[in-house]
Amino acid sequence: MTELTTQKEATLAAIADAHTLDALEELRVAALGKKGWVSLALKTLGAMPPEERQQAAPTIQAIRAEVTDALTARKDALEVAELEAQLASERLDLTLPAPEAARGSVHPVSQVMDELAEIFADMGFAVATGPEIEDDWHNFTALNMDESHPARAMHDTFYFPDKDSEGRAMLLRTHTSPVQIRSMVAQGAPIRIIAPGRVYRSDSDATHTPMFHQVEGLVIDRDIHLGHLKWTLETFLKAFFERDDIVLRLRPSYFPFTEPSVEVDVGFEVVDGRRVLGGDGDAPGHGWMELLGSGMVNRRVIEFAGLDPDEWQGFAFGVGVDRLAMLKYGMDDLRAFFDGDVRWLNHYGFSHLDQPTLSAGVGARA
Ligand code: DAH
Repeated sequence: MTELTTQKEATLAAIADAHTLDALEELRVAALGKKGWVSLALKTLGAMPPEERQQAAPTIQAIRAEVTDALTARKDALEVAELEAQLASERLDLTLPAPEAARGSVHPVSQVMDELAEIFADMGFAVATGPEIEDDWHNFTALNMDESHPARAMHDTFYFPDKDSEGRAMLLRTHTSPVQIRSMVAQGAPIRIIAPGRVYRSDSDATHTPMFHQVEGLVIDRDIHLGHLKWTLETFLKAFFERDDIVLRLRPSYFPFTEPSVEVDVGFEVVDGRRVLGGDGDAPGHGWMELLGSGMVNRRVIEFAGLDPDEWQGFAFGVGVDRLAMLKYGMDDLRAFFDGDVRWLNHYGFSHLDQPTLSAGVGARA
């Protein structure tokens, strides 16, 4: 018995001294494993005479319990220590400056769209969207361009081979004007929206890319007239170009979806060989630049969209967003917009901190 007690003391001391889970496991096998000294001691009980066994059994059981408890306690302690060591080694100091990494920038087109939303929100316009994959009813027919209309041919449309479930030809929208129809159908009148987005035409040269951006404007209400259109465009362009001397010239024009239609020119001045918007286009050293299409919404379009044209009138306009960006920020090659060249983006891109606001200037650079 004293021999067992000595062995127990030695094992308990070794357990207390074990510093790894592996060392602990070795001690467990040596004591409690099949051939461990505790197991062997238990086996001797069978051969003992009953009185002796009655005395020895509780002692050996107690030793086994004591060793088992010591192993469990030490194992728990070692596991906690291991976890703490791991946590300490994987600690991340979030207050440290992040390593220098390449920084993305906001594309001028996105920046200009944000500027437009900011300016028009101030005039009570909401932002509307529509699908880029359109059907020919929304893109053409409801805009007063039936199948035989020559304007359809002018749009260089990308068609899909299959028609939709209602038998309508599917296409990539050639302009943002179908959002006019979708907005009227979905929300009725009155309406005040702008609809910025991508449009597609099979056209490609220095000033045309197969995908480009437009923003559509639509106001539908009672007693709307051309004066409202002119004021809205003037207010928008002054805020956008951040100049009070923006002068507009309205020229009669033709679009199937507006009647009357007006083409809007903006006065510019030639400074160091560059056209800078502002001033009366008729003044010496000045000229007029065609900027956007607009007009009073055609009665037929209002009817197509399910509204009564005797009750509701409105105006609409459409303008190229890429063009606006080029004019405002001095870029001269449209194709570079869509090349994804990091050097171009670093130069012309905006920081995410350049948030357009009317008070700080929509084109503010941080
Ligand atoms: N949708 C025309 C285009 O893509 C632009 C346009 C002209 C839109 C006159 C209008 C408008 O809303 O009234 O060329």
